[in-house]
Amino acid sequence: MDFKIAVLPGDGIGPEISVQGVDVMSAICEKFGHNVEYQYALCGADAIDKVGDPFPEDTFKTCLWADAVLFSAVGDPKFDNNPNAKVRPEQGLLAMRKQLGLYANIRPVETFDCLLHMSPLRKELVEGADFVCIRELTGGMYFGEKLEGDDRAYDTNAYTREEVERILRVAYSYARRRRKHLTVVDKANVLASSRLWRKVAQQMAPEYPDVTTDFMYVDNAAMRMIQDPRFFDVMVTENTFGDILTDEGSVISGSMGLLPSASTGEKTPVFEPIHGSWPQAKGKNIANPLAQILSVAMLFEYFDLLEEGALIRKAVNASLDANVRTPEIQVPGGATYGTREVGAWIVDYIRKA
Ligand code: IPM
Ligand code: MN
Repeated sequence: MDFKIAVLPGDGIGPEISVQGVDVMSAICEKFGHNVEYQYALCGADAIDKVGDPFPEDTFKTCLWADAVLFSAVGDPKFDNNPNAKVRPEQGLLAMRKQLGLYANIRPVETFDCLLHMSPLRKELVEGADFVCIRELTGGMYFGEKLEGDDRAYDTNAYTREEVERILRVAYSYARRRRKHLTVVDKANVLASSRLWRKVAQQMAPEYPDVTTDFMYVDNAAMRMIQDPRFFDVMVTENTFGDILTDEGSVISGSMGLLPSASTGEKTPVFEPIHGSWPQAKGKNIANPLAQILSVAMLFEYFDLLEEGALIRKAVNASLDANVRTPEIQVPGGATYGTREVGAWIVDYIRKA
């Protein structure tokens, strides 16, 4: 296949992990005979500093040109404590999601056997946990009508039937390919928007008789996720709840640095780690590149190139088994490897495979 890839490194540790993702992409393409062409584009605080817009028109055009976007991270502390900032890096990410119509965010939560002890949860609880959170990504409070006054402010959690139905279809298709269990997470005891979600899901469930559909309030789901994560197979939820629950999910894996995600919908799909820009680690060569590298695996799998994806996963597992790990997951007394060293080890493994 001929790949056109838009690379959006962004802020903080973004540029460092981006390089590792691109190197892995290139190594796989070389091995499997794919052509790949990259175009780099600005986003986030970097784009605000350079052109005054966190998702400039040129970046949008580059995304439309591409078959897929490899995105890293955005965010900068100089905006975090300034509620008066006119424009924020995160708006670039939201603009990208909205303009590309990326309504379905796929966030798998998996465990790695050799990292089970890293989870703050007991090993016997997390062992074998394997679920996917399907987060709605272009609706809800993130995009609803807002008021930001000095004495009064609100965000509106609006959803239409059409928005709910299309994300549920994505969730059901995942459930069908997995263990056929879908949990719809909402707050239907309080929120009108959640009652719409529940109504639409109840109406659709009979179309998927092979899938068990159950419903769970989000507060209860947050608890169940750490009490009994193996309960879940596919979970589907609105934008805000999905944001919160997937950070919680990363704890099950033992590190935020391990979880990739795919955002898909109408236009070019985006592959990105679920973690943020970790500004404190910028330039220190300590950020874990695995979430970015696993996003590249998701990219190939999206195009049905399963062997390519599988080789990346094998290489990642091999690096963990060989204790070639960044500091936050290194075993006591293990050698020191940085972002670059872990990436280079994985590229080398792929070349020799
Ligand atoms: C995520 C992030 C973003 C979100 C931020 C950076 C806007 O936390 O992708 O989960 O809230 O969606
Ligand atoms: Mn988040």
